[in-house]
Amino acid sequence: MGSVKQSNTSLQTDHLLTVADLTGDEIMVLIKEALVMKKQVKEGTPHPYLQGKTLGMIFEKSSTRTRVSFEVGMMQLGGHALFLNANDTQLGRGETVSDTAQVLSRYVDGLMIRTFSHEMLEEFADASSVPVINGLTDPHHPTQVLADLLTIYEYKGKLRGLKLCYVGDGNNNMTHSLLQAAALTGMHMAVASPEGYAPHDMIFQQAKDKGEENGAKLAVHDNPIEAIQDADIVVTDVWASMGEENELAERKLRFESFQVNKELTQFAKSDYLFLHCLPAHQGEEVTAEIIDGEHSAVFDEAENRLHAQKALIKLLMGK
Ligand code: CP
Ligand code: NVA
Repeated sequence: MGSVKQSNTSLQTDHLLTVADLTGDEIMVLIKEALVMKKQVKEGTPHPYLQGKTLGMIFEKSSTRTRVSFEVGMMQLGGHALFLNANDTQLGRGETVSDTAQVLSRYVDGLMIRTFSHEMLEEFADASSVPVINGLTDPHHPTQVLADLLTIYEYKGKLRGLKLCYVGDGNNNMTHSLLQAAALTGMHMAVASPEGYAPHDMIFQQAKDKGEENGAKLAVHDNPIEAIQDADIVVTDVWASMGEENELAERKLRFESFQVNKELTQFAKSDYLFLHCLPAHQGEEVTAEIIDGEHSAVFDEAENRLHAQKALIKLLMGK
């Protein structure tokens, strides 16, 4: 991996709403910054880059990793994080998104939101005078994908030229953010999903075009065996995301042959890496044998939420 230098660069974007707000170079800066701070945590070296700063975190959906990693990350950076359950705020009683964003911006130095609608996040960011971070919307999950990229880089020593295969629901936040990341970093990506569950047309097309500029081939398949051939990284996610629970019975039927299991992974490279953002539904999108097996790095991936997000908030909020 070589030695890593701490960077004083900031990001061009004011907010992180999707992975496409970053450049490929900025993604590499964030990975290197995260590696430096990960080492500092392990060595017990203080790195209080956000002393006295506060991150407000609004949640309209459940969370384990996102909440805890941001909260602990702010503490390790010398700052403070504030958990706001949207339903306990006036937002839950109809106060407008714009007024909420303007008011909260007067108190805090950054805001993270986990919500359903991406348009609501955009409206919030437009009205906010401090950086806004997408902590997951229905179509995008950029902070998870920064952690995934960090994990891939740690295991494989590079991103460019690797092949990532995503098997499962192609029309969800993880697939879209991974497609945008692959396009920017020069990773090839093959998505395997059943008919009707392919990635959003526009998001896929934009990522494909960007990928062509960067030497990344992006493709969508309806046959998982075809998609997984020679994959360096195999990724999946739940078949029904938060807010889609009532579709689970139907989705279980539609996704039956899109499970990541021993039969399928024999077509990936022999040293493939398995990733899943978690929470996982073992026996649905992935078997226990794979997620608990020797190729799986899901707990390193979960840990890396902390390190990747610290790099992100340092560069966004430390401006
Ligand atoms: N992967 C992820 O975002 O986990 P949480 O839903 O627990 O935050
Ligand atoms: N696609 C999943 C990711 C959970 C972290 C969801 O939105 O529920």
